[in-house]
Amino acid sequence: MLRRRRVVLCGVLLSLTVTFFVFQVQWTRKPAAEKAAVERLQDGETLRVVHLDLKGAPPKMRVLKTLIPLIAAAGANALLLEYEDMFPFVGMLQNASARNAYSREEIHQLLVYARKSGLEVIPLVQTFGHLEYILKLPEFRHFRELSGFPQEICPSNPDVFRVLVQELIEQVMSLHPTAKWLHIGCDEVFHLAACTRCTSRYMEGRLLFTEHVVRVARFVRDRFPGITPLMWDDMLRHWLPVDLADSGLGELVEPMVWVYSEDVARQLPHYMWYMYGRVFSHVWVASAYKGAYGETALAPDLRRHSENNLAWLRIMRSTKGVQFRGMVLTGWARYDHFAVLCELLPVSVPSLLLNLLLVSHPLSSKSQVIVQWTQALSCPPAFTPNALFDSDPFQWHLGACTFLGSNLFSAVANYVTLQARVDSLYTDMTQRHGWLTMYNVRHNFSSPWRVLDALTNGQRLVRELDAFRNSTALIMLQYFDRFTVDEWLEQKVDYLTEKMVSLQRYVQTLIARDTWQRRPIS
Ligand SMILES: *[C@@H]1O[C@H](CO)[C@@H](O)[C@H](O)[C@H]1NC(C)=O
Ligand SMILES: *[C@@H]1O[C@H](CO)[C@@H](O)[C@H](O)[C@H]1NC(C)=O
Ligand SMILES: *[C@@H]1O[C@H](CO)[C@@H](O)[C@H](O)[C@H]1NC(C)=O
Ligand SMILES: [Zn+2]
Repeated sequence: MLRRRRVVLCGVLLSLTVTFFVFQVQWTRKPAAEKAAVERLQDGETLRVVHLDLKGAPPKMRVLKTLIPLIAAAGANALLLEYEDMFPFVGMLQNASARNAYSREEIHQLLVYARKSGLEVIPLVQTFGHLEYILKLPEFRHFRELSGFPQEICPSNPDVFRVLVQELIEQVMSLHPTAKWLHIGCDEVFHLAACTRCTSRYMEGRLLFTEHVVRVARFVRDRFPGITPLMWDDMLRHWLPVDLADSGLGELVEPMVWVYSEDVARQLPHYMWYMYGRVFSHVWVASAYKGAYGETALAPDLRRHSENNLAWLRIMRSTKGVQFRGMVLTGWARYDHFAVLCELLPVSVPSLLLNLLLVSHPLSSKSQVIVQWTQALSCPPAFTPNALFDSDPFQWHLGACTFLGSNLFSAVANYVTLQARVDSLYTDMTQRHGWLTMYNVRHNFSSPWRVLDALTNGQRLVRELDAFRNSTALIMLQYFDRFTVDEWLEQKVDYLTEKMVSLQRYVQTLIARDTWQRRPIS
């Protein structure tokens, strides 16, 4: 309102000049510019998108059935679906699907849930790098850029586009006939112009990259009229403005600018917004609600993730000359196909809802949003989170609330305590104290009295780990299939048990003697 009045006032003052006429024509031609970017976000004109990364850990359908209305209520109006190996590929691509991939019926069902909650669905299919799930297979290894690294395809191999990429897009789009956007990935193409086929063309990596992306984006636009390809922006971010303008990408794709740290502005070249605003009609941005602060993290750091999302709101508020089409809250399941699981989706529901509420109410204060958040999580009346999250960035007492995932959240909170007890016993005995170091073990030389406690403490922890494993398996099976459950338990719990078992073995050997040799010990 204030803004409009000021414009009118300007008009009165400057109405005699020709410059104003030009200004006014531009102003009225772009009515959207009248509204600040955060207001557009608040009103949902800028999409508020939740990224579901399904790679190698498919949540059960009934979990998604509950989750989707929950995120819609917290402000989401679109989903970015990253299937990776969870897509039911057929024909030549069939081995790219994991054995526990979703069925076609399940994907239809998922799309019905999304539609019922009014969510737009944007499928994502990688078309350059991060194709580990395909390139790891023997039948696709000849498409790799480097034969030893199954990450990116070779853009100079004509079969890659003709045989592989087109087929990937066709199959994914066939299950998404009503999509308006297709995300073609294209982030983190670490090896460019690396193979002999590419180097013999004497082209810069940037031009090889452009050539392939332009080919893919043209194909999407020609084959599926009305669909706009989206791509991650990291490969373009540091280009010269003139190179980006000349690339032809401006007419073909919309970039998605991702930064997951708290200092968003510092991660981006200062001229980047000007460059993107000139080249692209629309730009998307991507924050994170999980999967950004450690490959083996157990739960999202609420302080850092909320700071990241708030930093994005400040950028959207202050950036002029860019039309923001959507804001995506990314939630990574693993850092790549080969990595172990990071924060599990049910454990990340508090972070997801908090950050969704923050970006859906960009004009409210953080403490106002926190009140809505504890309501959305069905927290007990006396529950009071510290709005800064600085004393406990994980807010482990959230297990007292009753949200989708709260029982697993509590289990993971218990795991954190168990892990700390195991690690401290092991480190104390083998590194800090002087009777159970590897030297003592190797030379079979220690004081039985000094190490006996480790035996009883270790045995108690092994029993507790066993009970934890059993009860957590039952909880996890409410959300995931047994493969995902087994992976997490093996990676998180079994290695703790192994640590305790080896500690017991050391002690048992050391106490099995009652006379010792003269020094020096050999
Ligand atoms: C899938 O893999 C199996 C062996 O693992 C192989 O026999 C089969 O030919 C592959 N299918 C395709 C379509 O490549
Ligand atoms: C855990 O489950 C295993 C296998 O079902 C069983 O043998 C064991 O006794 C259980 N442990 C505890 C502590 O419940
Ligand atoms: C340590 O001493 C015990 C008891 O004499 C013996 O049984 C065991 O084999 C020894 N272990 C090593 C590694 O020397
Ligand atoms: Zn190549």
